Amino acid sequence: MSFISDYWILVASATATIVICKLIIRLIKKFREERQLATFPSAPSHWFTGHLHYVKNHDGTTLQFHVRCATEFKTCYIMRRGPLLTGLVLCHPDAIKVVQTSSAPKAPTYEFIKPFFGNGLVAANGNKWFRMRRLLTPAFHFEILRSYVQIFQDSTNTLLEKWLSLESEEVELFHHLSLMTLDSILKCALSYETDCQTQEEATSYIRAVYDASDEVLNRLMNPLLHSDIIYKMTAGAKRYSEVCAVTQAKAKEVIRERRATLQDSVEQEKLKKRRYLDFLDILLAARDESGNALTEEEITSEVMTFMFAGHDTTASSISWTLYNLARFPEQQEKCREEIDAVLGSKEEFEWCSARELLKVDSDQRICKGDKTRRGTWVTTHIFALHRNPHVWADPELSPNASGPNCIGQSFALAELKTTVAMILRMFELSVAPQNIIQDYEDLQPHLILRAKNGIVVNISPRSSS
Ligand code: HEM
Repeated sequence: MSFISDYWILVASATATIVICKLIIRLIKKFREERQLATFPSAPSHWFTGHLHYVKNHDGTTLQFHVRCATEFKTCYIMRRGPLLTGLVLCHPDAIKVVQTSSAPKAPTYEFIKPFFGNGLVAANGNKWFRMRRLLTPAFHFEILRSYVQIFQDSTNTLLEKWLSLESEEVELFHHLSLMTLDSILKCALSYETDCQTQEEATSYIRAVYDASDEVLNRLMNPLLHSDIIYKMTAGAKRYSEVCAVTQAKAKEVIRERRATLQDSVEQEKLKKRRYLDFLDILLAARDESGNALTEEEITSEVMTFMFAGHDTTASSISWTLYNLARFPEQQEKCREEIDAVLGSKEEFEWCSARELLKVDSDQRICKGDKTRRGTWVTTHIFALHRNPHVWADPELSPNASGPNCIGQSFALAELKTTVAMILRMFELSVAPQNIIQDYEDLQPHLILRAKNGIVVNISPRSSS
């Protein structure tokens, strides 16, 4: 009995010693961070919680705080996340380009997304990142993207048919567009044919993505949960691992099916004739100098990464673009005129003004963590950047694009152009007064920007369509 209690006393003392040592190390780091950042401006902060009270809900008020800081401080400002973590937030292109063009490693918080994304391109660092980036860049070659336009059209046609059969004029854009962009990325990059837009089954993957990104953000915003030991004891960690299991199972299913298809000799012949391979075929065919294939874990990680990064972001961009066109009928009509002028009765999609569309408003991933100097955490706040009055004459009408590092930028723009053009040709869009997203409180920052009550517009078929 006494042996057992001695044992537990020993375990408790060892744990307490480790925790205290970690705390002391963290405090020393915090002291250094504060010293390094002493010359930078900061909003008033609490001695213990820092700026957490401004951002703890990670809702629209968080975004409002960052925009206020960008307005007041112009380039960058200090952000204190509780008593132990101090970093710098960048909100001006001059500051951001310094970090974006450096080869600084990604912040340790990128570890949080690994159960969700695996150690794919978004989370990877150093040689591993460089090797995979070089391997996968040809999957987004212009020649390949051109061949995807037909798939974008097919996916959009499925969406339009769905919309035409709806009884109500009111649609929540994000839900429909998430399924549509998932349909496209599965077909284009992963050669995986589904009826995911019309079958309920895909909704469980979409829900898992939603829950997983929610969990990542919960953890990111709460410094207490940055500790693996503490986080693993929470209900959120259990939920996170359950939803990540759903996304991982989907990725594995996609890989399994493609492997099975590639057993077929006709498919193999088709592949041999292709100049550029699709994303998943590149992963499956890759061999290093010694002839070794990528490991199962490496392939699964990239597929998980691309399934998420390739659909949620684009769904968000298209949804916000359509919402804003619905809000501003004059701009909607101008766009339609441009589309009609370029396309006439043709069905090809080659016009190039999607960036202009994105000027109406912006959605983006909310932040990108990085380090510039040893011990300094740097976050780029894209939302604040896009509303920084020191950068834009009218910050509410700022341009937007995917991150400079984004491998799928051209893919996303091609899909956005195709989808928006096809929708505008078929439907008039408007927003009912109760669905207008009035202010920051209606917004909800996730890994991408959402609206608290969804992005709801009214669609009515054009009389000429
Ligand atoms: C409008 C749509 C999109 C937006 C707003 C967007 C945004 C971003 C941003 C901000 C980053 C930098 C993230 C970071 O460093 O933490 C990024 C990276 C990335 N994006 Fe996108 N993205 C979009 C579309 C896509 C698409 C369609 C794909 C794939 C088909 C994709 C795949 C990736 C990948 C793999 C990375 C990591 C790249 C690397 O680190 O080498 N994205 N994206």
